[in-house]
Amino acid sequence: MNSGKPNILITEPIPAKVIDHLRDFANVTVGEKGYFQSEENLINEIQPYDALLCMLSVPVTEAVMKAGSNLKIVANFAVGYDNIDVETAGSLGIRVANTPDVLTEACGDYAMGLLLALSRKLKEAEQYLRDGNFKGWEPLGFLGMELRDRNLGIIGMGRIGQAFAHRARAFGMNILYHNRSKLDPDSEKALDATYIEDSGELAEKSDVVSLNCPLTDNTRHLVDSDFLNRMPDHALLINISRGAVIDEEALAEALHNKVIAGAALDVFEKEPEVHPKLLIAPNTLLLPHIASATHRTRQDIGMLAADAIISVLNGKDDREIPNLITP
Ligand code: DGY
Repeated sequence: MNSGKPNILITEPIPAKVIDHLRDFANVTVGEKGYFQSEENLINEIQPYDALLCMLSVPVTEAVMKAGSNLKIVANFAVGYDNIDVETAGSLGIRVANTPDVLTEACGDYAMGLLLALSRKLKEAEQYLRDGNFKGWEPLGFLGMELRDRNLGIIGMGRIGQAFAHRARAFGMNILYHNRSKLDPDSEKALDATYIEDSGELAEKSDVVSLNCPLTDNTRHLVDSDFLNRMPDHALLINISRGAVIDEEALAEALHNKVIAGAALDVFEKEPEVHPKLLIAPNTLLLPHIASATHRTRQDIGMLAADAIISVLNGKDDREIPNLITP
């Protein structure tokens, strides 16, 4: 490493333009895919680095940050930051950044895509054709749920929840939502959205439930067997937030027993592991955490994280770095 320049560890390959941007300013090390998902590897190698640009799959624990005695900032390549012990970072004077806004539209598009694929049974229908079963147009084949006039219940009405709601409105859906706080009247009006204080009541009233909330102590296993039992049996569940918002065992049971009609899951509690009963559940779409995966968005995510690092290492005032998280 070249002395005089700060040292930055990027835990795995990200868009080249972002790496080049950081290389203009610092010595940059890029880890191998998956290597720094191990807390032990991180603890062993973090010490020389002034900044860590990490993936959401990297556990930035108290032990990691204590081993990183030169660390000034941890920038997550994601909007969700439940992988980082923010309290400890605060107590050690380490800044934490995430990447809000830049992925909102990509995630809104993706949630809509999951809903359309699930409600119109696209996965099963395509498999049917590939298996050689398509013998001609069928009046009763693959009948799905039409979205018009259906209730979409969104849990977590932040930027991504609202982006999804706007798209769903264009498909004629009614918007219900449960959130820590009510939206301001203008945003509520723009979506014609109805606030529901009790998440169980939202489950009862929704034809589709979408999870768009962060993972916190309050949202962990929010979707459990009680919640699922309150959903109508024709209802669908979509999750692009974090896997642990759902009790996966309870969901797998509910899908197998037709308590609900289907689920589209982009995230899992123990990624990359997927609960074995979900792998064989009916009408279930399982995707490898790709909600923000567009060329444009992934580059924007990287640039936002990189700029927070450059700002902190240059000693910029925290108040001028919009994506810093306060513990
Ligand atoms: C994030 O950035 O937190 C999301 O998980 C993207 O899919």
